[in-house]
Amino acid sequence: MRILANDGIDQSAKIALEAQGFTIETNNIPQAELAGRISEYDVLLVRSATKVTKEILDAGASLKLVGRAGVGLDNIDTTYAKEKGIAVVNTPAASSTSVAELVFAHLFSVCRMLQYTNRQMPENGVANFNQLKKTASAGIELKGKTLGLIGFGRIGREAARMAYGLGMNVIAFDPMISEAEVEITFHPEAGIPTFKKKVTTISKEDVLKQADFVSLHIPGGQGYVIAAAELNMMKKGAGLINCARGGVVNEVDLVEALNNKTIAYAGLDVFEKEPPVYDAVLKLDNVSLTPHIGASTAEAQKRIGDEMAEQIINFFK
Ligand code: MLT
Repeated sequence: MRILANDGIDQSAKIALEAQGFTIETNNIPQAELAGRISEYDVLLVRSATKVTKEILDAGASLKLVGRAGVGLDNIDTTYAKEKGIAVVNTPAASSTSVAELVFAHLFSVCRMLQYTNRQMPENGVANFNQLKKTASAGIELKGKTLGLIGFGRIGREAARMAYGLGMNVIAFDPMISEAEVEITFHPEAGIPTFKKKVTTISKEDVLKQADFVSLHIPGGQGYVIAAAELNMMKKGAGLINCARGGVVNEVDLVEALNNKTIAYAGLDVFEKEPPVYDAVLKLDNVSLTPHIGASTAEAQKRIGDEMAEQIINFFK
């Protein structure tokens, strides 16, 4: 069986699959060439970069399984795969901690203007140190602030757990969940007891109006969930964090809201187009930026790889 891991896969998964007799290739085939080459493979593994379209599925004469090494399935035409009898699997739980930690990396960054000082220090850190210090001294603490989660699935709940650990309040909206219990396990090895906290979800409007920071934890492919109307509902001084999917935030409206001080900050890991085409969103001092790395930690990639290898091995048993 030949596997193409077109967006890469953790080395441990490669070793596990090869030990079971699979051949696994990890050299990326560019999207434009993929349809011409996919017939050589039985399994196609992707992260978010490769789009598994109707054309790719039609060209994959030997394809039996498509694996998405990650949470969402929005880059895979799952309906068409089903019609063609090609199975689709993903690893929905493996990266929750890493994505939630990145949310806090952005939150800490915007609260203390790290994105701004990191850009300024190399050039101005000596000559304009005191001026920079003055500008960056308008920081705020996260403790006591309210984190509003839009989407309260695995990653949203992990973000809630971390927020409670920092002394934040948590409110959440999820169209599918009216109430959820978050198990707060901080550090059992250190004897810190686990406790449970019930979060009753409220309307999206109320989350937007009440939160000091709004963090999105929703799937893509549903159009804009945050555009001018939603940004206008948010508190002045609030921040928006998107480590979910780029297409859910209208970037033009977001830049306008940041420029007009309708909201104060944003943290973005994902973009409407990747690589981003609307570069205004990359140039603001109050926006913390990362290039879609929510799941890109050693730990998450190992868990994703192990889980994916296990699913492939079981599928062909
Ligand atoms: C995910 O959905 O888990 C990530 O977006 C995958 C990725 O990092 O490409």
